[in-house]
Amino acid sequence: MLPLVFVVVLSWVFSPFAAALSSDYYDHTCPKAESIITKVVKKAMMNDKTVPAALLRMHFHDCFIRGCDGSVLLNSTAMNAAEKDGPPNISLHAFYVIDLAKKEVESQCPGVVSCADTLALAARDAVALSGGPSWNVPKGRKDGGISKAGETRQLPAPTFNISQLQQSFFQRGLALEDLVALSGGHTLGFSHCSSFQNRIHNFGTAHDVDPSLQPSFAASLRNVCPMHNKVRSAGATLDSSATAFDNIYFKLLVLGKSIFSSDEALLTATTTKTLVSKFANSQEEFYTAFVKSMIKMSSISSGGGQEIRLNCRVVN
Ligand code: HEM
Repeated sequence: MLPLVFVVVLSWVFSPFAAALSSDYYDHTCPKAESIITKVVKKAMMNDKTVPAALLRMHFHDCFIRGCDGSVLLNSTAMNAAEKDGPPNISLHAFYVIDLAKKEVESQCPGVVSCADTLALAARDAVALSGGPSWNVPKGRKDGGISKAGETRQLPAPTFNISQLQQSFFQRGLALEDLVALSGGHTLGFSHCSSFQNRIHNFGTAHDVDPSLQPSFAASLRNVCPMHNKVRSAGATLDSSATAFDNIYFKLLVLGKSIFSSDEALLTATTTKTLVSKFANSQEEFYTAFVKSMIKMSSISSGGGQEIRLNCRVVN
């Protein structure tokens, strides 16, 4: 028998109430929406190179909790701690970019484009403008009104092994190929020490450091993140070209130079290991798979979205 939580999540993904998305959704109601959002993302990343990584991760965290309904964008209130303030989301940033994009879009076509769609489009732009692939984003998501910090516990943790990762993705209708392709999102961005501390200090009884880490790479991580690290901003980039969207993440992963246990876990099952090698050897194959999986991930729906929020931080 399937556990209840599993049935509930699966029923979100396949909810009959989830409106079908379409690529031409705003063609008549807000034809300039996409170009406005692209312009805002482009300008923001010129001022701050960390913006693309932030937007891509924000979209992933939105989609994994209650589907892609913009719930990650809501602010906490006196009565409710929102997703934004859940532990894994404290390091999310660049929410101002979505605010700016939404404001510009609202001035052109008031009350038409959802915050969830704005974020999905901004994430696509983030990838494309970092040198990665571009694609047509299916649109028509509605914004949800529920956002609970406690539900961020449902996000996959960086300490997850392959079966935990598989389960987390499978519950949302995503397969192992999606897990590997989407983990390639770690070609962009940065991690704080706390997210990979488990690999570099007190790893286990036999080893202080995760033996699957390449030794000099492990030493460099220990150098920036000592055991009693006091520098809250300290950490490491997720690959050696953290502002470029490329397949270097996979090339480094096979060399034992990944940041999270969850990255390394992709090498522990035959299916996923084969995909990692495929993507390390061919950026083309990675791009094709990434686009396919992003469209799948960004279509996750709980059927709970009801409105087009005017301000992405508060319900109407
Ligand atoms: C497979 C499960 C995943 C786990 C366990 C995971 C975990 C993490 C963690 C712990 C961080 C660093 C947070 C910090 O310390 O600041 C991070 C960063 C990041 N993740 Fe993931 N992630 C996963 C999947 C994904 C997916 C599917 C995407 C997008 C397609 C993604 C995109 C990113 C990006 C772009 C960053 C850098 C963020 C920044 O620099 O602001 N991750 N991830």
